[in-house]
Amino acid sequence: MEEQIQEQKAMNGTGIANVKFPMWPQFAEETFTDILEPLRSGKVNYWTGKKGMEFEAAWAKWIGAGMAISCMNGTAALHIAISSLGIGPGDEVIVPSYSFIASSFAVVQSGAIPVFCDVTDDHTIDPDLIEGLITPRTKGIVVVHLYGVVCDMGPILEIAKKRGLKVIEDSAQCFGGEYKGVKAGMVGDVGCFSFCQSKHFTTGGEGGMVVTNDEELGWECRSFRDHGYDVKARLNLLALEEKLNYIHNRVGFNFRMTELQSVIGINELKRLDSWNLARRFKYAKMYDQAFGGLKGIKKLPYNSTERKNAYWWYPIILDIDALDIRADQFVKALGAEGIPCYGIQWPEAYEEQAYRHLNGFGTAKFPFLSQEYTNPESVKYGSKPCPNAKRLRDVTFSVFLHPSWEPEHIERVIAGVKKVLSAHLK
Ligand SMILES: Cc1ncc(COP(=O)(O)O)c(C=O)c1O
Repeated sequence: MEEQIQEQKAMNGTGIANVKFPMWPQFAEETFTDILEPLRSGKVNYWTGKKGMEFEAAWAKWIGAGMAISCMNGTAALHIAISSLGIGPGDEVIVPSYSFIASSFAVVQSGAIPVFCDVTDDHTIDPDLIEGLITPRTKGIVVVHLYGVVCDMGPILEIAKKRGLKVIEDSAQCFGGEYKGVKAGMVGDVGCFSFCQSKHFTTGGEGGMVVTNDEELGWECRSFRDHGYDVKARLNLLALEEKLNYIHNRVGFNFRMTELQSVIGINELKRLDSWNLARRFKYAKMYDQAFGGLKGIKKLPYNSTERKNAYWWYPIILDIDALDIRADQFVKALGAEGIPCYGIQWPEAYEEQAYRHLNGFGTAKFPFLSQEYTNPESVKYGSKPCPNAKRLRDVTFSVFLHPSWEPEHIERVIAGVKKVLSAHLK
């Protein structure tokens, strides 16, 4: 593949240095011709073309799911999953505070209330804290495999079973991670993926997928994704080449993916294991070997045979007592060396104005201020901090392991991190 180089200012966390690293994302070569097919045929919509269903079937096969439901982005995937499980107004869902905002906004979009849980030093939800957050309103737990680190699913599943809760896996950052040999997304009741620009791969900037082995739930997701249609009836009509009918079983949204996105997804999925993940795993080993035991570094990303990391990013916890700088200053220093890097990913969602001011929908600020739907105690967001997530803010930074990079780029990152570390050891 022809190496494409970009001026990579955006992801180095500082914007100071112009670094020549191969850009991410890059697309499979055949996509540049295949993408023209739906444009030429005019079959650019999920219901006129066949690529959407083909992508869903391929993703289902890859992950081992009974059903895969494509959609326009990862936030929509979470919204579809949560709402299709029947979670809505009056309900609470436990979510880690340390994640991209969509993990909790999707709960609100479903009409339910997010209750924030702290994380461990693995950057994932702390199973020991979940039971303490359960109220009579709790219906589910959103677990987030952040950075590709697979959550400690055993105790979470146990709690969910005991307390009758649904487990929604936010796998937006975890393609190909595994818990006890089962792919992330297939461990709980339903799994959600994002194909946004920066993810393991992208379907052209936006995209998402829901997966489940529960057939009834899968059909509900398909209906919710698609105006509440009776999708089974529509598929039958399509097979008979009859006019498509509009039967609306429920209130739904239009969260469909376009055929162009699906073409890109099909091609990226073909090389996900052989190229994308193979390179990520190889580069993670290079980082592990280089950084393991280094003075100034406290913890590398968790990985084990039970919880196999998918290495979206490579988050590092600094031993801040051994250094004279915090993680944000470390990111600036590394950026100045020309190394792409990033600070922590949003540790305290409850600090956002949307939660602090309970800025929900409409003048009623639904669902936060609807007394019949909300336990007022559960929405006192400012009063319930997550101390470990807060602490991780000052000590965590990430480097990347994009498959478009070559080992020499990983070596440059390693050299940069070592240089900054040694310059700031106390
Ligand atoms: C953990 C997590 N959840 C959900 C999402 C939402 O996905 P999208 O941006 O495709 O809506 C993202 C993506 O940014 C994410 O990182």
